Amino acid sequence: MKHVYCFLFALFFIATGATAQQGYTPSPENLKNRREFQDMKFGVFIHWGIYSMMADGEWIMNNKNIHYKEYAKLAEGFYPSKFDAAKWVSDVKAAGAKYICITSRHHDGFSMFGTRQSSYNIVDATPFKRDVIKELANECHKQGIKLHFYYSLLDWSRPDYYPLGRTGRNVGRAEHGNWDTYHQFMLNQLTELLTNYGEIGAIWFDGQWDQDQNPDFDWRLQEIYAHIHRLQPGCLVINNHHLAPIEGEDAQTFEKDLPGQNTTGFSADAQIGQLPLETCETMNNSWGYNITDLKYKSEKELIHYLVKTAGNNANLLLNVGPRPNGEFPDIAVQRYLAMGEWLKKYGETIYGTRGGFIAPRDWGVTTQRDNKLYVHILNLKDDALYLPMEGKKVRSAKVFIDQKPLKFTEVPGGVVVKFDRIPDDVDYVVELEIK
Ligand code: GLC
Repeated sequence: MKHVYCFLFALFFIATGATAQQGYTPSPENLKNRREFQDMKFGVFIHWGIYSMMADGEWIMNNKNIHYKEYAKLAEGFYPSKFDAAKWVSDVKAAGAKYICITSRHHDGFSMFGTRQSSYNIVDATPFKRDVIKELANECHKQGIKLHFYYSLLDWSRPDYYPLGRTGRNVGRAEHGNWDTYHQFMLNQLTELLTNYGEIGAIWFDGQWDQDQNPDFDWRLQEIYAHIHRLQPGCLVINNHHLAPIEGEDAQTFEKDLPGQNTTGFSADAQIGQLPLETCETMNNSWGYNITDLKYKSEKELIHYLVKTAGNNANLLLNVGPRPNGEFPDIAVQRYLAMGEWLKKYGETIYGTRGGFIAPRDWGVTTQRDNKLYVHILNLKDDALYLPMEGKKVRSAKVFIDQKPLKFTEVPGGVVVKFDRIPDDVDYVVELEIK
């Protein structure tokens, strides 16, 4: 009898183990990818879909209450004649970014890749007929850029999507869906994304926050996460759910805020966990292409944000919304290039670093690699700066860019570094060698 129980027990564990990711232990390649993810520091987010034709962001269907069947007709006119994956990837490289995260399917439900799970996709439903994600994947692999897929859990078009949240209320969506078929649809699409496009660095989920009308809904995420790790154990699972990370996730993302901050209201419940961190941000104020939004952040603001994310031990995922013709907006290209030029000179103080042991301050942040501490001075009115050293001793202090030695004095608790002028560079970087 005892044996029968043991057998049943074993069976139970095998059965649940096959569907859930309880007790998730990341694979060695997953852990390696997490470190590489942290080393990359800078990625380009791409929000692109048939919504780009309406030139008013990726939420237009929801915001203008467009019936999903009418919206779907946009696909028949989608012909991005200037799309050139090689140009995108070289723009990304010129920015100094190391990875791309692209919307494979956004809340509108339109798949930007050649999927067999629904004909509502770029290959079957548009005159363009090209799998742009495939072309991008090939180019990324060729040019050594990591590829991440954004994937929406939320869908404003599929009748089986469930639960209804606060969005997509007036687009003709069915009141009740069928989570089983929708969940299976997502698993099948993820299989395609993780088998037809080579090595994928991460799947980046979004839309779960829409559950606020139905907080107890079981999204069966563990099955989804386990499925991803079964297909590509090294692939990072990231979920923009605005909460602390849960089991099966490999990195934590913050929307439009540095980790620990909540200026946007999205991150009230997003306690910082133990995983690698990322912050995603827009260059203007839109994710998807918006023809009237020319409020681009300045070069200086963008460089400062990149430096601050690094100082907060996070990556920056900086967005571009390509035009309907398939090109990045000119201003975006120009801003990326400016960041790339800066990174050519200062990349050593960013790539491969971690947040420094001196926590972010009003004057700036610190990054660190081995025994080097990079002090990024972004905003200082004095020609000297006190640095708390937590018992560590400074061997030397230099201006990073020309390696000119700087005077420093030991004072109780730390050192005071003296400059020959008030630092007014975009980022005045002091390199401290720690004993
Ligand atoms: C939000 C928005 C979405 C965008 C995402 C990027 O979740 O719904 O449109 O893709 O943020 O962080």
